[in-house]
Amino acid sequence: MGTTYFLQVYGCQMNFYEADLIRNILNATGFEEKNSPGAAEVLLIITCAVREHAEKRALGNFRQLLNLKKTGSARVIGILGCMAQRLQDTLINSFHADLVVGPDQYQRLPELINAAMNANRPQIAVELSDECYDRVHPVIQNRVSAYVTIMRGCSNFCSYCIVPHVRGKERSRPSEAILSEIDELTTQGVREIVLLGQNVLAYNYNEFDFCRLLAEIHKHPQIYRIRFITSHPRDLNERIVKTIATLPRICPQLHLPVQSGSDRILKLMNRGYTTEEYRNKVALLRKYLPEISLTTDVIVGFPTETEDDFCATLELMKSIRFDYAYMFKFSPRPGTPASLLTPTVPEDVIRERLLRLIEMQNQITRESNRAMLGKIYEILIEGKSPRGRGCMGRTPQGKVVVLDEPLPAGSLVNVKIVEVRGWTPKGEIVFSNASAPHSPEIRPNFSHQHAGG
Ligand code: SAH
Ligand code: SF4
Ligand code: F3S
Repeated sequence: MGTTYFLQVYGCQMNFYEADLIRNILNATGFEEKNSPGAAEVLLIITCAVREHAEKRALGNFRQLLNLKKTGSARVIGILGCMAQRLQDTLINSFHADLVVGPDQYQRLPELINAAMNANRPQIAVELSDECYDRVHPVIQNRVSAYVTIMRGCSNFCSYCIVPHVRGKERSRPSEAILSEIDELTTQGVREIVLLGQNVLAYNYNEFDFCRLLAEIHKHPQIYRIRFITSHPRDLNERIVKTIATLPRICPQLHLPVQSGSDRILKLMNRGYTTEEYRNKVALLRKYLPEISLTTDVIVGFPTETEDDFCATLELMKSIRFDYAYMFKFSPRPGTPASLLTPTVPEDVIRERLLRLIEMQNQITRESNRAMLGKIYEILIEGKSPRGRGCMGRTPQGKVVVLDEPLPAGSLVNVKIVEVRGWTPKGEIVFSNASAPHSPEIRPNFSHQHAGG
């Protein structure tokens, strides 16, 4: 039997995707995954460094796992990912990690784990490189929707952000690697692809750009839906919007982080757009894609943020009406310019502003879900519903809908929204030929087969 390992994942979609790469790298070299830490010899935590809170959570979990080394079968505990890249040997010296591996060094994991076990000495690999994991495909299990990384790293250097420091410079994965990975995923039942990158709109591999990539993936008859995250507002243009509008299987959904509604703060953040430019891009999106769902990220309490700056953010969010927003307290990240900016905003002021923002946005999100009542949507079923016997799926806009019927994952059905319980809309199947918006090529269908192709 091979060495057993347990994998715990924190952070963004990129980490979840990379967890599947790591599974592939380890399983191919004879390691065997266990789903409980008590049953494994090697315990690996994939971490995030984007905010202090994320690091504290991972370190808290790491300490718990350390106890298993005293009592259980664990022999090696490793910290992987963005926090490993940021803190490097501190994790060995101060926290007693046996293994510290940055995001570009996962190919070396089998060798490093074996060295840590056999030599009984901590191992570290944190060089940043051009690694794109071209030849490693993720291991996926029974999933209808799968992530595919198209870009790694980031060269935008927003003044608050640690990502460029821990993920290295922006690079596009070869288009052939992406397309062949998608091809392989469809043979495993995947019907929806979510393209990943810190700034996907800037994808460019030897003149093969984002629009061309979308068009190529769109040709695949077994891909029903294409989504992508994250889009940087600066790189959104009419050509991209038109591409999304003309290719029906590209979902009308965009995550377009605005970060702040104050031009002065946006400049300090080094975001590269003004609120006016941002509003114009939203108007462009809504002109070509009236059904589009828009989500965003906002940072509250960036250094020097005044009550007026914050009110400008409230105002912008109130007028744009995002379907959903991820709202964060500013967290100073060592080594970033914003961590040195003064005056900082007192913690109690940040907390109070965040609460006001969340309250306003929750109201808008609830109203946006309620507005679905009575409408018909095409739902791609992803699996069982968390409660009850039914199933859950998503609208093209990305909203989760629950159904009472237990339909198989991968089914496409048209449903009418009959109820919105709390946050979640509930749908009933409609057996008519009336096509839901954004599904001109695909008819209601209970099998994995693509009816249009
Ligand atoms: N590449 C993406 C987002 C990556 S990080 C983009 O440019 O939008 C995800 C979100 O975390 C960011 O959009 C930002 O809102 C938030 N974030 C990043 N650094 C942060 C910090 N130091 N404090 C608080 N929030 C932060
Ligand atoms: Fe961070 Fe800005 Fe890059 Fe996003 S675009 S990852 S916020 S530096
Ligand atoms: Fe993602 Fe966190 Fe790293 S947001 S890229 S896991 S710092």
